[in-house]
Amino acid sequence: MNCLKRIKVDLGRRSYEILIGPALLTGSGEILRGIGLKGKILVVTNPKVGALYLSSLRESLVAAGFEVESVTIPDGEEYKSLLQVERVYEAAVRMRLERSSTILALGGGVIGDLAGFAAATYLRGINFVQAPTTLLAQVDSSVGGKVAVNHRDGKNLIGAFYQPRVVIADLETLHTLEERDFISGMAEIIKAGLIKDPHLCSVLAKKVRAIKDQDRETLGQVIATACSIKAKVVEADELEGGIREILNYGHTIGHALEAETGYEVYRHGEAVAIGMHGAARLAVLMGICRPQLLEFTLDLLERYQLPTRISGLSMERLIERMSWDKKISGGELRLVLPVATGRVETVVAPPFELLRRVLVSLGAKGGEA
Ligand SMILES: NC(=O)c1ccc[n+]([C@@H]2O[C@H](COP(=O)([O-])OP(=O)(O)OC[C@H]3O[C@@H](n4cnc5c(N)ncnc54)[C@H](O)[C@@H]3O)[C@@H](O)[C@H]2O)c1
Ligand SMILES: [Zn+2]
Repeated sequence: MNCLKRIKVDLGRRSYEILIGPALLTGSGEILRGIGLKGKILVVTNPKVGALYLSSLRESLVAAGFEVESVTIPDGEEYKSLLQVERVYEAAVRMRLERSSTILALGGGVIGDLAGFAAATYLRGINFVQAPTTLLAQVDSSVGGKVAVNHRDGKNLIGAFYQPRVVIADLETLHTLEERDFISGMAEIIKAGLIKDPHLCSVLAKKVRAIKDQDRETLGQVIATACSIKAKVVEADELEGGIREILNYGHTIGHALEAETGYEVYRHGEAVAIGMHGAARLAVLMGICRPQLLEFTLDLLERYQLPTRISGLSMERLIERMSWDKKISGGELRLVLPVATGRVETVVAPPFELLRRVLVSLGAKGGEA
């Protein structure tokens, strides 16, 4: 098997491997047989990814003896909905999927989250396989078992923790990704370095060209490192009762930006990049980290052409959005802030005055309703 890297996610009976390498989709039938799956597979994909990769995936699965059907969900975050999950259930019933059958997600984070939710709930849970095809999905959303769909009142409001049986991250699928989506995925890799791994940070700072050019060895290594950082955090806290919170670095401000712009302006990683810049600025103002860390963070984000500033949004409305975040987490606002390269800590109830200053310094309009 032409597989570059294997990362184990150690969760007892729910343990699984993340496989990262070139040309893995064409070997997926063998991979799934190798972990003991058999019978029926329902592939969930979207029109764009399906047109590119479904036929080679299907060929490999059929050659390995699986019965394969597929269901195509329209492309876009707005289709990560219960309505579309219903379509997956319908296909599953039509195909008579059983407890031993498999739902396989072929696509980015939207397809992975939605297909995973369907797999978690159909017959109270059937086998789930992730074949992530965006960089963001390969380093983040396919790892860790969070699956969800959106509700009109909030993103990812309806979901579950449900681990896949295996993650098949084929590096070649990244070649067809739009540059903006590739860069967006880089933000989550940078986040992984900034929260846990100074060495990853220095590799990211030094090997910008090789990574952007998708040099197989360099990019494969960086993806594997980011996955193993996330895997370790998830192993320590699968259900997000404690340390898993550090994965939210940059996300509190990021989520507020995404929500305030109706999920139509920023890619997820772009919003997280601005959020990490904001968090680092706040940490400096609060005396938690040194200004050099803020400079390093900004420089790293800029090397990958990630956005770091807000334009045209009201600071007060962003503050309101963060307060909504606070309500659903039960009381106080919690922010993950950087302490040193590769180290973060959670600050409970950070001073809103400083947060306001930070948002304005990022470019938000001050004092407006
Ligand atoms: N479960 C988690 O832990 C977790 C973590 C982070 C993000 N997410 C979720 O992930 C979603 C975002 O994921 P995303 O950034 O992958 O977005 P996405 O799934 O919308 O994919 C982005 C775009 O790339 C296209 N695409 C996918 N693979 C391609 C390929 N190989 N070649 C060409 N085009 C391709 C898609 O069709 C889409 O247009 C959000 O819904 C977010 O909530 C989940
Ligand atoms: Zn994220």
